[in-house]
Amino acid sequence: MEKEIHKNNKIPPNLKDYAETCKKFRWEDVKKELGLDTKGGVNIATNAIDAHADTWRRNKVALYWEGSGEERKKYTFGEMRQESNRVGNMLKSLGVNKGDRVFVFLPRIPELYISIIGIAKIGAVAGPMFSAFGPEAIRDRLKDSGAKVLITDASLRERVHQVWDELPELKTVVVTRLPETERLWKAEIHYEREIEKASYDLGVEQISLEDPLYMLYTSGTTGKPKGVVHVQNDMISHYITTKWALDLHEEDVYWCSADPGWVTGTVYGLWGPWLNGASQVVFEGRYDAERWYSVMEQYGVTVWYTAPTALRMLMKAGEEPVKRHDLSALRYICSVGEPLNPEVIRWGMDVYGLCIHDTWWQTETGSILITNYPSMPIRPGSMGKPFPGVEAAIIDAQGKELPPGSSGILAIRPGWPSMMRTLWKDEKRYKEYFQIPGWYTTGDTAHMDKDGYFWFIGRADDVIMTAGHRVGPFEVESALVEHKAVAEAGVIGKPDPERGQIIKAFLVLREGFSPSDELKDDIKEFIKHRLSAHAYPREIQFCESVPKTRSGKIMRRLLKARELGLPEGDLSTLEE
Ligand code: PRX
Repeated sequence: MEKEIHKNNKIPPNLKDYAETCKKFRWEDVKKELGLDTKGGVNIATNAIDAHADTWRRNKVALYWEGSGEERKKYTFGEMRQESNRVGNMLKSLGVNKGDRVFVFLPRIPELYISIIGIAKIGAVAGPMFSAFGPEAIRDRLKDSGAKVLITDASLRERVHQVWDELPELKTVVVTRLPETERLWKAEIHYEREIEKASYDLGVEQISLEDPLYMLYTSGTTGKPKGVVHVQNDMISHYITTKWALDLHEEDVYWCSADPGWVTGTVYGLWGPWLNGASQVVFEGRYDAERWYSVMEQYGVTVWYTAPTALRMLMKAGEEPVKRHDLSALRYICSVGEPLNPEVIRWGMDVYGLCIHDTWWQTETGSILITNYPSMPIRPGSMGKPFPGVEAAIIDAQGKELPPGSSGILAIRPGWPSMMRTLWKDEKRYKEYFQIPGWYTTGDTAHMDKDGYFWFIGRADDVIMTAGHRVGPFEVESALVEHKAVAEAGVIGKPDPERGQIIKAFLVLREGFSPSDELKDDIKEFIKHRLSAHAYPREIQFCESVPKTRSGKIMRRLLKARELGLPEGDLSTLEE
């Protein structure tokens, strides 16, 4: 085991004593702290925005927005209330009712955040989509969810046009930032013009804690991405995990580098910090070491939530860019999405003078469940300990809890507030998470040491985590075989020092096509545009066949073992 690291925070942490808090903890108390009087109904947008706008925080900045170019904007809690009210009214005028799905396909611009809050205010269900998605990814999500309205912008709408014919339930597409020279198409309307007409006053829909709030599609080993449904009740977890795991205080300026198209960006780049009344920074642009540090310097970021791949890239960029910026305000760093290497933690200590705190969770869990705390020494390489009120264990296939040191399935006792409530129109797949009686199984393997720290081992299935993004091999394989040259495809995650894993595809070509570097590039471009820029295979290998079981399932396990030079294991089901 690595040496423990304990770096004092600059201010007293919100969670002062982990063991003591665990003993006394009750979710009911958090509910009370949030003032959730359920008799009259609730709405997360009231707690995250409007309630602050009714206090001195009305003039406190909620959102500092930095565009990818020169543009900058800021919004106070008062302004966020007004702008989101207008979105709510616009959607109502389009016939959106409680429970309807409204999807959002936007870059990280203020309208993205304001729209999601406006959607919540009228009790509709928000579906954020990552702006790198191609037409196929968009089509699958809009079709499955039966979204009624989509909010997008001029730069992305063309991808929607390509698939609109296949989406009978999509009634209206609201387009922001459309230049005067461009015309509306089909049932599109102008965001700005409609908003102009909408009132600043809105009666926020008072709904039940079990009413749906948002849905995000995520990948498993098989089938298309599944729509994970989260409810209003999640706010209990959002609030308290942000307060204790991310340690947000009133005076903090917080930056989460994730996009709301992924769960981290929705929960900790929107709801969690605003439920805590914190000011947050949104940077529209992509990763760039120099620009990231300048954003942190300019806004005086104090708490930063990011991902191991980004940290590894910053490590590669070295110490020089750090020295060029004043990062003295920075006091707390957290990371999520993939294993955080001890090497990165040590580098962070040297260069930022701060310890990076790993946090573990999933789209399905809706909030951080295992994490490191400012008041607890970290063990580099460990994900930390379960959040107060959360029971985590390492179990075997029969549900028996295993002793410290044994590896097994990472499982959680159901019942924490932000647990997903269903998979959209797929109760059968939802139930698969609960097959072992008394447990929610995560799909991860891990072990726990004798002091209760959890250590990640890997995925128990074929799901690929690349640069912190979750990708299902099946989605990529299905998109690959749509390329005219590809007859069969097998896709695996291959270890990569920077991105954790990269996507590698093994391809059998159709008659009449021969292997070449040009063909590889063409296939990569095809996937980037059709599926998503984050889900293309960085490596392609042409082969005569891909190993399959007798029932025709691709044996990715075998592809992986061969790629990594590991034992091939049981081959009894391999097709001859
Ligand atoms: O395998 C685990 C990995 O990410 C998976 C969840 O992916 P997703 O639903 O996209 O959510 C990612 C961000 C919340 C997990 O099953 N994962 C997440 N956090 C960690 C991690 N792997 C190792 N260490 C972590 N801290």
